[in-house]
Amino acid sequence: MDLRALIPKGTQAFRTKTIDKLMECTSGEHALRKVLSPLDLTLMGIGAIIGTGIFVITGVVAANYSGPALVISFVIAGIVCAFAALAYAEFAAMVPVAGSAYTYSYASLGEIWAWIIGWDLILEYAVSIAAVAVGWSGYVTSLAAGAGITLPAMLVNPPGTSGGLVNIPAMVIIGLVTLLLIIGVRESARVTTVIVAIKLGVILLFLYLAFGHIQPANWVPFMPFGWNGVITGAAIVFFAYIGFDAVSTAAEEVQNPTRDVPLGILSSLAIATVLYIAVSAVLTGIVPYSLFAGTSAPVAFALEQIGISWGSALISVGAICGITSVIIVLLYGQTRIFFAMSRDGLLPGIFRQIHPVYRTPVKVTLLVGTVTALLAGFLPLTTIAELVNIGTLAAFIIVSLGVIVLRYTKPSFPRPFRCPLVPLVPILCILSCGLLILALPLVTHLRFVLWLTVGLVIYVIYSRHHSRINDNTSALECWKG
Ligand code: ALA
Repeated sequence: MDLRALIPKGTQAFRTKTIDKLMECTSGEHALRKVLSPLDLTLMGIGAIIGTGIFVITGVVAANYSGPALVISFVIAGIVCAFAALAYAEFAAMVPVAGSAYTYSYASLGEIWAWIIGWDLILEYAVSIAAVAVGWSGYVTSLAAGAGITLPAMLVNPPGTSGGLVNIPAMVIIGLVTLLLIIGVRESARVTTVIVAIKLGVILLFLYLAFGHIQPANWVPFMPFGWNGVITGAAIVFFAYIGFDAVSTAAEEVQNPTRDVPLGILSSLAIATVLYIAVSAVLTGIVPYSLFAGTSAPVAFALEQIGISWGSALISVGAICGITSVIIVLLYGQTRIFFAMSRDGLLPGIFRQIHPVYRTPVKVTLLVGTVTALLAGFLPLTTIAELVNIGTLAAFIIVSLGVIVLRYTKPSFPRPFRCPLVPLVPILCILSCGLLILALPLVTHLRFVLWLTVGLVIYVIYSRHHSRINDNTSALECWKG
């Protein structure tokens, strides 16, 4: 008699997948190519992190929530992300398997948590890709306008917004990125490298041009909306930091993952944090914060205000490049999460098929590209973007919890990178992410609960029955349908 039949279904949902078993599926002829170096990873991190957050969201937050204390909002969100990055780094070195937080939860907390987090990451990545592509479209439209070309409002806005019908530029950029990712990871990493260099160049140029124009009077009053405004501001600018976790989704394609993934995560986050603090201080120092209300290109706008129009156009070009790399890395991350969930049986086989020539998951890349292009083309994403933040904050909480749990359940498992001061750092991460979640609007909480409920229904109807956790899966079987 199979004793497993005696285990109630509810208990099965909390089974964990052993780390050895997770690692089994990462080698063999069907494995993803191991082509990424530590520098590729750091650039990939910067490529994913710096984008719409700094180029678009800073203005809205300065004008409506934080005022000149925007810099404090960035510091708070940066500290929260640093706690989370340390937890991610420990896991990524210990379990260098595609799938990021999803995989870590499977190893530490159990299948149901892994499903919840995987479902949550789908929301984070898919909605981010769409939101970021819409930001890209906005910069392209304003740059074209600056050059005297007016793109028809009908074709650059979603239905219901400013006479729009469909956002064509947003759909086109997602289509191009999808093709790039199909061709290959190494090629995508190369494109990312060039883009990141341009992006860092324009940010440094902005700091250089603007520094001499700072007027300390613009920093007074420093907190026009009080601490509440600053904390809500932190919960929103948190979006600017999203992306460092995408480095961990690449773990299976890295030459030396135990050393390089933690390095990539922590160094890209550190570089982005320093730049964000500098840009937000300078931005609010050169222009009174209230003037940012209504601009969707605050960095370019600020240079325009101090009379440096050529710099403003250059910043727009840099922003367009910068935002492109965010789309590349997030779309890449999304496909790798699907890939890992499918390999575990929680999603159907189509999500894990690898193309024989390109050695990339072509079908799932096309699927993600199509769905996110439709979201970007037809939805006004301003409020939905807050969902991205709540999804990511929830992922950080679960990963931190996972680090604590594995320290107790697997104390002697090799940890090439150790998160310092466990359990203090993960607990601080959980508390601070909880605080930022509370600072988000109630409607965002409700939408998030709805999304999780739909996910749980799918788990009960499909994934629970198709889970391969009890298979004696050998490496070759990991990819069978
Ligand atoms: N952090 C990314 C951005 O700001 C999502 O565009």
